[in-house]
Amino acid sequence: MVGNYINTIMKYLVSVNETGIEFFSDENTSILEQAEINGYSLKNGCRLGACRVCKLKLLTGNIEYIGSKKIGLTESELKENYFLPCCAIAKSNILCELDGDGVTLSNTKEGGVICDVKRFLGITILRFNLSKKSKMSFIPGQYIGIEVPNGKCRYYSIANIPKNDGYIEIHVAKNKNGVFSDLVCEKIEINDVLWIYGPYGDFIAKNYDEVRDIVFVVTGTGFAPVKSLIESYNFYRRKIHLFWGGRKKK
Ligand code: FES
Repeated sequence: MVGNYINTIMKYLVSVNETGIEFFSDENTSILEQAEINGYSLKNGCRLGACRVCKLKLLTGNIEYIGSKKIGLTESELKENYFLPCCAIAKSNILCELDGDGVTLSNTKEGGVICDVKRFLGITILRFNLSKKSKMSFIPGQYIGIEVPNGKCRYYSIANIPKNDGYIEIHVAKNKNGVFSDLVCEKIEINDVLWIYGPYGDFIAKNYDEVRDIVFVVTGTGFAPVKSLIESYNFYRRKIHLFWGGRKKK
């Protein structure tokens, strides 16, 4: 078994066939998240093991699912050695293969400078600017990863629409003991810098020929990606119904 101990956590080499992608993954972090920490954006959706969007084919090595996750793969996918990196960890060095078309691979990590902070009722609306030379371009409905003090990432939907101006807005709800939400909801100030990864996700407008009404059902800060989608006018021919739930009337 090849691997090295760093701070007593075993790290394994994850290689993606014919892409040149290689990174180390530990037993505390999903393979998907570890790829993102290393600057690689693998296609993903729910990040919960349900949608199967992230599936990869395991060619060699061993993985293990985190906790007792119920995995949404079909019988035939399991027989063909597919696995879901969003909820799996490496248990040895592994070699895997991307599945099909449309796999997003990017190497984008950029600094964002906070330019506006609004806090009310446990929610913080954070706006920041990327550099004028930023290569990060997003599609309404996508999300970004933000590096938090322990070196891991927290993920937030982008709430504004892309205008190639490097401007990004996210909505952060205060969570009890949330590493990033504590920082954002209490301490972060204008001109602070955040490290941003991405963008990720395929919760984006599709099927432009579709004419049926669109129904969005969201709660709390789940409104953020929907705000971006609605403002983008991508649904210009379709009627939109928005149901937005909250615990408080305000
Ligand atoms: S199963 Fe949905 S992102 Fe992995």
